[in-house]
Amino acid sequence: MCGIIGYYGPKDTTEVLVGGLKKLEYRGYDSSGVAVLNGSTFDVVRAEGKLTNLETKLLESKVKGPLGIAHTRWATHGVPSERNAHPHKVDGVCLVHNGIIENFSELKEELMAQGAVFSSDTDSEVVAHLVARQLKKTPDLLTSVQAVLPRLHGAYAILIVWDQQPDTLVAFKNGPPLIVGLGKDETVIGSDVQALLPYTNNVVYLEDFEVTQIKNNKATFYSKNGQETVKKPIQVRWTPQQAEKQGYKHYMLKEIFEQPKAVASVLSKYVNLSTQSVQFESLKECPLGQTDQKEFDISFLKKVDRIFIIACGTSFYASMYGEYLIEKLAGIPVEVDFASEFRYREPVIPANSLVVVISQSGETADTLAVLRMAKEAGAQTISLTNTRGSTIDREAHGHLYMEAGVEIGVASTKAFTSTLAVISLFGIYLARLREKMSAVEEKKAIQNLLSLPSQMEAVLSFDKFFSETANHFKGHKGFLYLGRGVNYPIAMEGALKLKELAYMHAEGYAAGEMKHGPLALIDDKMLVIVICPQDQHYEKTLSNLQEAKARGGVIVSIGTGEDKKLKEMSQDYLSLPKHDWLTSGLLSVIPVQLLAYHVADVMGYDVDQPRNLAKSVTVE
Ligand code: AGP
Repeated sequence: MCGIIGYYGPKDTTEVLVGGLKKLEYRGYDSSGVAVLNGSTFDVVRAEGKLTNLETKLLESKVKGPLGIAHTRWATHGVPSERNAHPHKVDGVCLVHNGIIENFSELKEELMAQGAVFSSDTDSEVVAHLVARQLKKTPDLLTSVQAVLPRLHGAYAILIVWDQQPDTLVAFKNGPPLIVGLGKDETVIGSDVQALLPYTNNVVYLEDFEVTQIKNNKATFYSKNGQETVKKPIQVRWTPQQAEKQGYKHYMLKEIFEQPKAVASVLSKYVNLSTQSVQFESLKECPLGQTDQKEFDISFLKKVDRIFIIACGTSFYASMYGEYLIEKLAGIPVEVDFASEFRYREPVIPANSLVVVISQSGETADTLAVLRMAKEAGAQTISLTNTRGSTIDREAHGHLYMEAGVEIGVASTKAFTSTLAVISLFGIYLARLREKMSAVEEKKAIQNLLSLPSQMEAVLSFDKFFSETANHFKGHKGFLYLGRGVNYPIAMEGALKLKELAYMHAEGYAAGEMKHGPLALIDDKMLVIVICPQDQHYEKTLSNLQEAKARGGVIVSIGTGEDKKLKEMSQDYLSLPKHDWLTSGLLSVIPVQLLAYHVADVMGYDVDQPRNLAKSVTVE
């Protein structure tokens, strides 16, 4: 989705805004633009495509002023073009918008019937026209925005300025995130904390339908019924440095190499090393920005009858992994589903159900809708996010965290492995709570997990082989990723990575399913990536590999140690250290991440900002 940012302060506003857009560009990069106060009017500069195009334009016409708003776009309504780029300016009103105004066509018709002339195909421009019209009746930006707000249906985070009130910025939201950063002598407002960190760690999360007015660098907040309200700022722990590349060619590569550290953070948060036991007190933690939340009742986990784990994209494959873990360790029935399907298929959520939603960003619209639906259905809910204070984190009953740190690459990597680590510990915790696992078994499981960070580093040290193998991907018509058990979701994730990064048609498949259709796809143009560690599925997976090889398929296999059999049958063999099934997925995912990374890098694609994608999908 789009990224928006606004600034009021003594610094070079254009520089601050462009710097902020750079931190938000992972949210969308079809076009960008700024509107900066220049004397008594707001000058608008926009450009199609990547942010660099806007930077070039700004060199020619740099505007100086204490107040401005900016936008980087992920096109939904209207093709990527300068004409459809934000900010939109109508009668002195400039606006940037993240989200979708669902009733924009009726509003547009009504406005055109009243003589309004539209200069773009976007839904967003409608709001600028509505406010400009209202200002003729109530010539005050805040009052006019509060009057227009109830007419808008859909998801929106919006920043507005007006030539006639050059000292004022008004912002409001429903759905997508909007955070106000309160600096010493400056105020910065935006879609993501990362863009605010260079100026302050003191932030306020706006709730749905809340409005804020920043006037002469003073931020005032208004509740959804228009009353002035006091919002207590909170301290964010992340540092701007964490959002830098630190010498890596891409954020994604840096984040892949940060996985041992991220998993170590999860272990140090949820494992009590002195008692060698798992602890989930944080479930009761109150998320950032929440003060009045009822504590999650941990004893409920003793009697939960069914667990639903719901998410989207990579987070969904982590849910699938969770299903295997929790059912095997704790013996509780687990159901997983895509949030976009679950929310509309009228699922049966019986009493004593726990609904776990997983979301790196904590803002994915479909996943948020499932959370709200589950709460309405009376289920207990737990969120597992990487973003404290995100909407999903704030609205769930219980809170778990991925502890992966800022993840900027659009393709999720360290948040995925951190999630697998949290879910593994959660499975052990439930098993202990329900006496399905002894203290001795818990200690052994924890020992296996504690060895992960060093085992992951060992796998990462083989990166040279992964980039060599990646060169062999060229010239193949299709890619099949195969796995069994906990490595089936990893095969799905591997295929997703190759799709979203190298734009190659890849499919993940349960290896045992091959004979029921996909085997027909196999010939010497098909590259088959088989995850085949020495676990309970080894022999079965090996025979699936042999089936594919027998039809001419070219094999890349991922196995344990020096596996001669696999090596003989494979064009490329990638080795993992000897490991327990409990840690398998967290090791085997690294080669499939790096294979996709190197293929995309060799093809010169923008690895951190793949085409047509965005990091957090805040609309349906
Ligand atoms: C993964 O690489 C993608 N960025 C995408 O599939 C992502 O996992 C999905 O959009 C869910 O995002 P979330 O975890 O922030 O909810």
